[in-house]
Amino acid sequence: MNREDFPMLEDNIVYFDNGATTLKPRCVVEAMNRYYYEHTSNIHRGDYTAAMITNELYDGVRNLVGEFIHCDPNCVVYTSGATHSLNMVVFGYMRKHLKKGDEVLLNKAEHASNILPWIKLREEIGIEIRYVPLNKQYELTYEAIEKSVTDKTKVISLAHVTNVIGDVRDVKRIGKFCREHNILFNVDGAQSVPHMKVDFEDSYMDFLSFSGHKMCGPTGVGILVGRKDLLEEMEPLCYGGGMNSFFEEDNSYELKEVPVRFEAGTPPIAEVIGLGEAIRYLMNIGMDRIHEHEMKLKKYLLEKIKDFDSIILYNKSSDSGILAFNLNGVFAQDSSVFLNHYHIAVRAGNHCAKMLKDEVQIKNTVRVSMYFYNNYEDVDRLVEALQNSHDIFKVVL
Ligand code: ALA
Repeated sequence: MNREDFPMLEDNIVYFDNGATTLKPRCVVEAMNRYYYEHTSNIHRGDYTAAMITNELYDGVRNLVGEFIHCDPNCVVYTSGATHSLNMVVFGYMRKHLKKGDEVLLNKAEHASNILPWIKLREEIGIEIRYVPLNKQYELTYEAIEKSVTDKTKVISLAHVTNVIGDVRDVKRIGKFCREHNILFNVDGAQSVPHMKVDFEDSYMDFLSFSGHKMCGPTGVGILVGRKDLLEEMEPLCYGGGMNSFFEEDNSYELKEVPVRFEAGTPPIAEVIGLGEAIRYLMNIGMDRIHEHEMKLKKYLLEKIKDFDSIILYNKSSDSGILAFNLNGVFAQDSSVFLNHYHIAVRAGNHCAKMLKDEVQIKNTVRVSMYFYNNYEDVDRLVEALQNSHDIFKVVL
């Protein structure tokens, strides 16, 4: 769908690295250009026309996010990306509210951004980190989570969709369980928000993080959504202009209200505006349509390669457009170099999910991650290249 909106697709490439970042449609780049060419100005500071246009566009994106994922626009914090958002949750909120011995439940399919900050917090205040076991398909089930909870569990932190296995976690059921058991529910939506309908309120989420660049938006901008009462209790990690009401010689100061108190300094203004345009664009296509399209493509790909004995698949059953595999006896990176020869872009490596190897027993995989602008022809080109993979070392060496 909508391939004509993406100049990069005119170049005969097959872009299957959407888990890393997505292509940008013209309208997003144009919205940012309009800001740069027609009304460059800072936000919340100027009383002239350009500044007023910018203020309106910038602040208006909170309403769009609110509509897009069903949350209170006043609880939408602009960040630099999902990693920044997750760090804000851990070091802005959890550092202040957890204590030694409190338990945080993670799992080994998580991306670095949802593990490393917790490891650091453990080092600082002595929280306990426990990893909920994955099932035989390397997926995280509700039942496994329920079984792992103890009376010391204070937080469950997980990706809605993981970036290698791509399993869609039942966030609504897990969130309800958390709310009933007084456990904080922290969700990394980096791989779900761009690809399916996500509902913050309805899924009882306490915090939700995601990035702009994985959903047709620019790099350098992301979102943290939090429950209002939790955000009121969260410490800013950055202090400066725009987030304070006053500061005096006697060291007194007052912070502005949530969410602007978390946005010190000049924020990524063009990027926020670009993200707003991306959200409008995705809502016009329809998130359910996007998810259905990706699932159709994945099914088509699986059907086409089902008899290839040179391919080892790791996540056939997961409900997202992500497929992780290896070619038998071939290092993942070599496979991606080989596919690049056919102008097919995939990602190879550990995908920053560095503990997943303990479950899958392999460190590196090749990952195909789809989006709505991929089509059956893209899949056919991948299949054809894989069919030729017996020649891989003629190409790679
Ligand atoms: N998290 C991104 C990916 O999965 C970078 O590729």
